[in-house]
Amino acid sequence: MGKNLKLQCFLSFEQLLCEYRLNPLGIDTPCPRFSWKISTPRRGSYQKAYQILVARTLEALQSDTGDMWDSGKVEGRASTNIPYAGEPLQSRTRYYWKVRVWNEEGLPSSYSAPAWFETAFLTQEEWEKSVWITPPVVLERPSAPMFRKEFFLEKKPIRARAYISGLGYYELRINGEKVGDHVLDPAWTDYTKRVLYATYDVTSYLREGLNAIGVILGNGWFAYSQTMMHPLPQFILQLYITLENGVKKCITSGRDFWVTVNGPILENSVYNGETYDARLEKPGWDMPGYRMDPSEWFPSIIAEPPGGIMVSQILEPIKVIKDIEPVNITSPKPGIYVFDFGQNFSGWVRLTVRGPRGTKVTMRFAELLYEDGTVNQENLRTAKATDVYILRGEGVEIYEPRFTYHGFRYVQVEGFPGKPTHENVIGRVVRSSVEQVGNFRCSNEILNKIQQNAFWTEANNLHGIPTDCPQRDERLGWLNDMTVRAEAALYNFNLALLYTKWMDDIKDTQDPITGAIADTAPFRRYGRKPADPVAMSYLLVPWLLYVFYGDRRILEKHYEGLRQWIAYLEKSRDENGIVQYSYYGDWAPPLPEAVPGSIGASAVSATTPGTFVSTCLFYYGILLLAKIAKVLGKKEEEDEYITLATRMKESINRIFFDRETKKYATGSQTCYALPLFLGIVPERDREDVLKNFVEEVVEKRKRHLATGNIGSKYVVDALTESGFADVAYALATQTTYPSWGYMVVQGATTTWERWEYVTSGPQIQMASHCHPMNATISAWFFKTLGGIIPDEKEPGFGCVIIKPYIPEDLDFVDCSLKTVKGLIRSSWRKTPDRLTVNVTIPWNVTAQVHIPADQRNLQAVTIKESDCIIWKKGHYVGNASGIRRGNAQGSSIVLEIGSGDYQFEIFWGGEDQ
Ligand code: BGC
Repeated sequence: MGKNLKLQCFLSFEQLLCEYRLNPLGIDTPCPRFSWKISTPRRGSYQKAYQILVARTLEALQSDTGDMWDSGKVEGRASTNIPYAGEPLQSRTRYYWKVRVWNEEGLPSSYSAPAWFETAFLTQEEWEKSVWITPPVVLERPSAPMFRKEFFLEKKPIRARAYISGLGYYELRINGEKVGDHVLDPAWTDYTKRVLYATYDVTSYLREGLNAIGVILGNGWFAYSQTMMHPLPQFILQLYITLENGVKKCITSGRDFWVTVNGPILENSVYNGETYDARLEKPGWDMPGYRMDPSEWFPSIIAEPPGGIMVSQILEPIKVIKDIEPVNITSPKPGIYVFDFGQNFSGWVRLTVRGPRGTKVTMRFAELLYEDGTVNQENLRTAKATDVYILRGEGVEIYEPRFTYHGFRYVQVEGFPGKPTHENVIGRVVRSSVEQVGNFRCSNEILNKIQQNAFWTEANNLHGIPTDCPQRDERLGWLNDMTVRAEAALYNFNLALLYTKWMDDIKDTQDPITGAIADTAPFRRYGRKPADPVAMSYLLVPWLLYVFYGDRRILEKHYEGLRQWIAYLEKSRDENGIVQYSYYGDWAPPLPEAVPGSIGASAVSATTPGTFVSTCLFYYGILLLAKIAKVLGKKEEEDEYITLATRMKESINRIFFDRETKKYATGSQTCYALPLFLGIVPERDREDVLKNFVEEVVEKRKRHLATGNIGSKYVVDALTESGFADVAYALATQTTYPSWGYMVVQGATTTWERWEYVTSGPQIQMASHCHPMNATISAWFFKTLGGIIPDEKEPGFGCVIIKPYIPEDLDFVDCSLKTVKGLIRSSWRKTPDRLTVNVTIPWNVTAQVHIPADQRNLQAVTIKESDCIIWKKGHYVGNASGIRRGNAQGSSIVLEIGSGDYQFEIFWGGEDQ
């Protein structure tokens, strides 16, 4: 008992998550998974066993009864993604859970505070109670129809849930108020395959007596549906209410009578913007007792269902994340005002205006300005990116659009009554509300700005899917970009749920017979099917979800689909084993490296053969599949893929490797980087190949990249992994064209699609100024300068490798990552006499800390940890708490440590005085 009490003081439950969310509504998997984080100041603390209780009521849970599930005491360190294995769950039910753990000494904690999860619909049939509804034809193609339904509650409601989906976008309103804070909801999917619905707790919106529900619909991505020509927006809803007298009510779309009307939104389109005529507002339309004008309102009709299965939207909804104030306002022409937000971001603006009725304020969004200071929208292609607000003319009017978003830094305001000030136009940052998990800062301001640009670029491209750009008429989930982008994204954001959802989007593009997937998911508008083999993100993303979050389920769920895609590519090879097709390859290299004349809508590399990239990435895919098969315990299939990989490696070396010159294919940077990164280069040739590679980068290109979207990542990674981190660092800090630093010097606040600074001319067709495929260097900051690397052998950060590279001219790095286990921090600082490394390791995690002792005499190095000498004369001498052992490995000293905060001081020249 005494001991147990002591343990409580040292260990507190920080976060109990179910399917990665805190107390989620809308679980629709029969076996949701549980994770917990614990904070403790204790060093070397970990879990020896756990016990989970799940109960139907809070009372049962409080008396330690797991009437739904009692896992019993389960030995082991697993503390993330533990699947529920109790009694079958019921739909629309809340369950309570808690957990206790046994620590490294075998002492039990007390139970955590209770958490809960609530199911939505566990079967498709439950949706049959309602139908999709849409406006009747008499409404003459409304842009954003509004629907209304009134109902009476005889008693006070004590529990109410709304389940709703509206295509393309919906806004749900009850008694005059918007429900929840989702915007641009639901997330985009191929609606013929799956449709996401949201769950809201609407108890507090309802009242005893008369109530009214309103729904507004926008076009969203539904307008670009591949199966229907200009489909009308539609929605489906079920609202379950329990009254205080126990009576239950259910209001649905379809069964109940709904009326619909044209609203004030005259036009809305994801790409083009929104036009809103406030004179057409119908005040009170979503309130009880509203008197409808029968000449305007019509009964809604049943719509053709979109066709897909209904899936609960568990991923973080798109929300307004924050406001940004303009940093500058100019007036390049009379009556025209240009607001500069100082940052390229995605979202819209909130307009505050007062003026005569009918005044039309036009807002044009852009990433660029012309010389004369007006906005340059050329790179948006056909996207009009223009919002229009027409004033009702009564007092102060506040407007923000509902069913569009833009990627922009500047907004040009025309027709504003008077002279606008900073308060009149406020930027609203809008994206999937995923958590920022990474932080990186160092003593080099160029690197800091590159990281900041990369962060914003990724942030601006998270809208229910990972888009390629947020501004032009595209915004698609390109799989080729994601092959290189995913790792950097995972170092910056928690993408467990967003990527899990996007994996379904990819699966939905897969041909069930051939196994081919498409270049973009959801598949529409651009991209082809079968996808370019550079779409290896289909395998890499689930693998990274496994590595970063310990998510094994994603591997199980997609294993067959991944096998089919690899089988498809296997069939596409010629007799030499080479994958014989490529569309994009190492896409969008610096202009001199691109196929002449391909600078407009195409940007194929002239120096790196597409089939080489296709074949290498196919090889990468097989390696990943072999690893996945291993995790899933499919030994035979693992062997099969290892054999295939070996054959592929031989083919690549036979066809593309010149033994004389030690060159791969054309000897471009990407041609060296891929075989080195993938371990294709025969051991005996490695040194020569590396020499050529480094010569290409250092001598020939004077420490510049000559790569497209694929090569830029692998050049940096291959150099680093081959012992040339200094060359990678030179590329990262380069400031002349082409480089990331060049973008910074030109004033970029996000990463461009092209290495050139393009503002007009033929290249403008493909010159997004916010393109995450070129923001991949961010991963390198975290894993190389910060040195935080997940250990694949213990996925979900059971073990982390801390291995910072310390460049000569960098004084400090401060880097951290919030992981599924807690915050990992790796910071270092150089002073003339020492290197100080600060490391934070969360509970239940072990770390291998690599202290670089590069070219120093290991014998002379002394390491202190919190004032106690732990390394001296080439040996680990310490007995510091939390440190298990230390030994020299090559030119590093490797310390194995457990949870806790550590400060290591390294004295290169021997003991300090
Ligand atoms: C996209 C790129 C993508 C490319 C492939 C472009 O339009 O923006 O991100 O890699 O197409 O063709």
